[in-house]
Amino acid sequence: MASRIILNAFDMGCVTHQSPGLWRHPDNRADEYNTLGYWTNLAKLLERGKFDALFLADVVGIYDVYRDSAAPPILDAAQVPLINPILPITAMAAVTEHLGFGVTVALTYEQPYALARTFSTLDHLTNGRIGWNVVTSYLNSAATNLGLGQQIAHDTRYEIAEEFIDVTYKLWEGSWEDGAVKRDRESGVFTDPSLVHPIGHEGTHYSVPGIHLSEPSPQRTPVIFQAGTSGKGKVFGARHAEASFLNGNRPEITRKNVDAIRDATEAAGRPRDAVKVIVLVTIITAETDELAREKYADYLSYASSEGALALYGGWSGLDLSQFDPNEPLKYVDTDAARSALASFTISDPEREWTPLDIAEYLGIGGIGPVIVGSPGTVADELERWVEVADVDGFNIAYAVSPGSFEDIVDLVVPELQRRGRVWEDYPEGTLRERLSGAGPHLADTHPGAQYRGAYAGARSAADGSAGIPATPTTAAPTREGTAA
Ligand SMILES: Cc1cc2nc3c(=O)[nH]c(=O)nc-3n(C[C@H](O)[C@H](O)[C@H](O)COP(=O)(O)O)c2cc1C
Repeated sequence: MASRIILNAFDMGCVTHQSPGLWRHPDNRADEYNTLGYWTNLAKLLERGKFDALFLADVVGIYDVYRDSAAPPILDAAQVPLINPILPITAMAAVTEHLGFGVTVALTYEQPYALARTFSTLDHLTNGRIGWNVVTSYLNSAATNLGLGQQIAHDTRYEIAEEFIDVTYKLWEGSWEDGAVKRDRESGVFTDPSLVHPIGHEGTHYSVPGIHLSEPSPQRTPVIFQAGTSGKGKVFGARHAEASFLNGNRPEITRKNVDAIRDATEAAGRPRDAVKVIVLVTIITAETDELAREKYADYLSYASSEGALALYGGWSGLDLSQFDPNEPLKYVDTDAARSALASFTISDPEREWTPLDIAEYLGIGGIGPVIVGSPGTVADELERWVEVADVDGFNIAYAVSPGSFEDIVDLVVPELQRRGRVWEDYPEGTLRERLSGAGPHLADTHPGAQYRGAYAGARSAADGSAGIPATPTTAAPTREGTAA
């Protein structure tokens, strides 16, 4: 039987996500990104189309590498202005029942203790439909405004990420035992303190001695998404990701990265298919190939190469205004997203890219491919990606929003349903259950699972405020016996 294709919509809390200049198109409503109505309508539309999830990108800086200036992205609304994508999620959850939400948070600018609570909150309020896209960020402008002076070196960010995510697993998986929360009105015990444990984390970058603030949520740990395919990025993803998000412009080339992810996943002691691989695409569709091509030509007439180069400057760390526009680009290590640079240099030995080519290519859909055609043509091409690149699904960016998603829901999804490639209806369960086909919690082979029940019998909240056993409690708690 044909494998199921995972469909995510890809958006961001901004006017122009992957298609700079298109905000000017008369059909584009993405500039309503700062209204709740934009998000709730989008969520309802995606749920009507049985999408797995809405995947939300985020950065906490601006794209000021190109021309060494913030003016090009500001002029073109290239991922600025920008809102916090976490905040619309609960409103979207309120108008949907099944749609998942993957949200990007750069851990470089967070504290694990606080972020663990944010994700527990989201998991509770979405009833187990939340995923975290764990990124380390790539923008120097984020680092300078968040007190770091300048961006932490690329590989060091991943070392910090290892410790950060380990702390969050301890909080989500270990701190509160199953059954700790009693909600027992009769005995007056809401939570049994002896079943809540301080995690006692003392590491190189973080010190978190205490307990998790939130009670266990449906999934405990949110579904872990990851994006980044440098050497360090792959190792991190192979250990932690349950879904990995890739850029790639041709399936034959992307296959190498997918194989490398699956090899690394096995090497990390996890099943080869433990990480679902999702690739970025943009789909322009209409009833016929010809109408779709006309639509694409119309969209292209709004694309902005200045906006595209501004985005690429941020992603790659390279200011292409400094290069000969007709000279092929060469790979160099930068402190930005190395995979963004590799896509146009070393990834494809059969293709050289000049700055002019890159500006044109990125105009619609960013680094991912643009699939143009009738529903049949689009479905054929998606299936080719699945076969050739061995990917599990797609993060689908828009040219115009919600128009591009409406076209997909009304035209492409029915075709994929006919081919048995996407759901007729949602199966019950959490985002993790739908994605993995297994249970709501981390798989046993996942590194976070080691903390499940790991503190049972160890010092607990009943042993004094810091968890240091001043007055060990062994008896079942009563209202009187519980420290205030
Ligand atoms: C497809 C893709 C999507 C990404 N999305 C984001 C994002 O939304 N926000 C962010 O700060 N970083 C994002 N990143 C950056 C990565 O988290 C990572 O910091 C960066 O790619 C550097 O790692 P690498 O050199 O391993 O690619 C993305 C990377 C890729 C490849």
